[in-house]
Amino acid sequence: MQVAVVGGTGTLGVPVVRDLVARGHSVRVLSRSAPTNPVAGSEHHAVDLVTGSGLDAALAGVHTVVDAASHRGLRSARVMVEGVHTLLAAEQRADVGHHVEISIVGCEQVPFSYYRTKVAQERVVTQGPTPWTLLRATQFHELIDEILGASAKFRLAPRGSLRFQPVDVNAVATRLADAVEAGPSGRIRDIGGPVVQTLGELADVRRRTLGQTLIPLPVPPVGRIARRVRDAALCLDSAGEAVSYDYAEWLHRRYAKPVS
Ligand SMILES: NC(=O)c1ccc[n+]([C@@H]2O[C@H](COP(=O)([O-])OP(=O)(O)OC[C@H]3O[C@@H](n4cnc5c(N)ncnc54)[C@H](OP(=O)(O)O)[C@@H]3O)[C@@H](O)[C@H]2O)c1
Repeated sequence: MQVAVVGGTGTLGVPVVRDLVARGHSVRVLSRSAPTNPVAGSEHHAVDLVTGSGLDAALAGVHTVVDAASHRGLRSARVMVEGVHTLLAAEQRADVGHHVEISIVGCEQVPFSYYRTKVAQERVVTQGPTPWTLLRATQFHELIDEILGASAKFRLAPRGSLRFQPVDVNAVATRLADAVEAGPSGRIRDIGGPVVQTLGELADVRRRTLGQTLIPLPVPPVGRIARRVRDAALCLDSAGEAVSYDYAEWLHRRYAKPVS
């Protein structure tokens, strides 16, 4: 099948591209910049979701689009809400049969600006013209590690009761590749990692694994956003599917020194 992965150079996009190529699909990687380490067998097309440039050429002959694009700054709505609108319009012109979207578990419960953007993006897709599949996932280990790594640079380890259930991005990519092959399925089962842990527990695991001495930084659950996260709004409910391995295992795989 001819598949386009928008944001195919990102944290999620790369394993989605790899998985689809491994399954024998023809994969186009759509993003503004060319990949630094292109996945063998995939083909890059320069596009910009904000201006719409490159989309018509990149989607010609494509059957399914996976949208793994993201922008975490002030322009997040321009890229992910107006951008997905522009993308769906291009899909219509190209007669694309299936749009696969990725979103975030509990995003409607946490009034953080990026999550509001995700809720708005979901609305555009689920009310849009292309038959769709929507998967929600919890935070990737990479995101947790980025946050804790940034604190560790200042020799700080956050403490506190905010709760997360981080997941292996490759497991999310596999679910999206399954969704591509299944065809339009609407909202499918949420996925997340195997364990719910507090930010303090996650920071402790990182500190111990990397052998760092850090100063505890209390992060009290002040404000609505923090209280909702403390109350596990970003974690799976009983209908969700817990997959993959926990953050300790991810750290081990990511930072383990190769045996010489
Ligand atoms: N990170 C998490 O923990 C997490 C958890 C659950 C769900 N998700 C969702 O997964 C998706 C991917 O997230 P990610 O963390 O993998 O993102 P990421 O690593 O930041 O990658 C973003 C991708 O989007 C592309 N992009 C950005 N602006 C673009 C534009 N204007 N036009 C075209 N492409 C553009 C980037 O390439 P260029 O910059 O070269 O254009 C890159 O390929 C998002 O929908 C996110 O909400 C993420």
